[in-house]
Amino acid sequence: MESIHVNLAERAYDVLLGRGLLGCVGEELAARLGRRGVLVITDDRVGPLYLQRVLDSLARAGHRAAPLTLPHGESTKSLDTLPRVYAALAAHGITRSDLVLALGGGVIGDLSGFAAATWMRGVPFVQLPTSLLAQVDASVGGKVAVDLPQGKNLVGAFWQPSLVLIDPDTLETLPERYWRDGLGEVVKTGCILDAGLFALLEEAAPQGRQGLMARIDEILLRCVRAKASVVAEDERDTGRRMILNFGHTLGHAVEACEGYTGHSHGEAVAIGMSAVAHIQEAEHPETIAPGAAARLDALLDALSLPRALPALPAEALLQAMSLDKKRAGDALRIILLRRIGEAFALESSPAFYARYLSDRALTRLTVIR
Ligand SMILES: NC(=O)c1ccc[n+]([C@@H]2O[C@H](COP(=O)([O-])OP(=O)(O)OC[C@H]3O[C@@H](n4cnc5c(N)ncnc54)[C@H](O)[C@@H]3O)[C@@H](O)[C@H]2O)c1
Ligand SMILES: [Zn+2]
Repeated sequence: MESIHVNLAERAYDVLLGRGLLGCVGEELAARLGRRGVLVITDDRVGPLYLQRVLDSLARAGHRAAPLTLPHGESTKSLDTLPRVYAALAAHGITRSDLVLALGGGVIGDLSGFAAATWMRGVPFVQLPTSLLAQVDASVGGKVAVDLPQGKNLVGAFWQPSLVLIDPDTLETLPERYWRDGLGEVVKTGCILDAGLFALLEEAAPQGRQGLMARIDEILLRCVRAKASVVAEDERDTGRRMILNFGHTLGHAVEACEGYTGHSHGEAVAIGMSAVAHIQEAEHPETIAPGAAARLDALLDALSLPRALPALPAEALLQAMSLDKKRAGDALRIILLRRIGEAFALESSPAFYARYLSDRALTRLTVIR
């Protein structure tokens, strides 16, 4: 089993990574945090697969545990779900000496974390992420939130977990769509922070998902280490953490213009990453190592991630980016690649993308696969 220490000034915690960890959650919690009351929150896709094993382990180790199973999907991550969660916390008498355990993807993690942050002004919270996206991204960093009809993640908090337990075996049952979604963020991590991870992906990608699963422990470990180091430098997201947004400016615009029913987040980020690298190469070649864009494209292709810009009007994409920027309340910082494994931020505007989005000569590079 691997252990990654997330070194935060106020509250440090460990991320444990190991195959089969799911079956000894109770023992790990008892050893690290003592015996406690535990509310296990999951969804109706993950619950039937893994809940019983977690509950058995908790019971064996002497915890007083109860489950709450919610419907799967983003619509569960809503303010409207919270009364149900608070009712379960009340019914099971969860206090600050107990804990909330999130068993599921980013939806369950974000929602449970927000409930934990607000119940009795904050109770301990443990994450057992089961999707690739949650294992490499959402479960590390302490951002918890629910959505409002007005927008995603509008009500939230920084609430760091006490422990994160990652069992790579759970990925065996993850539907293909969500596997690819998570891969987008994995490639992003390689691009901005870890050239070794990028090379590993290049090696494993031709063997498909099976090839990647054969190396998954190392892939996850590298992703978690990278995210943990950025979060430790910038817990409250006021500086360095912005590099995690590589590919996200255009990616968010694509998602928004497709009404969140087209490309998944990770796929949209893949399109955004390729776009940035090509714009740099075409318009600011001195800022990026030669060949980086082609290497990125080749990896995205090998992973069956899209990089072709969907046929959306350039004006609509630019408008969506402006709106995003207005929401963020400050300058648009675009994250650029210096080389594979290293990124930097540039204060810019949606105009950075204008020529790429409207100029066929340039977009042809990515439109035709
Ligand atoms: N807090 C953060 O820093 C952060 C970062 C990135 C994303 N997020 C949030 O994460 C959410 C997306 O996370 P997600 O992609 O995990 O979505 P999700 O939680 O909806 O999970 C995706 C689907 O896969 C199923 N699933 C999960 N694990 C499974 C497994 N092992 N086997 C079979 N099915 C499984 C789920 O039931 C669900 O249907 C979004 O709400 C996003 O805003 C948060
Ligand atoms: Zn993302």
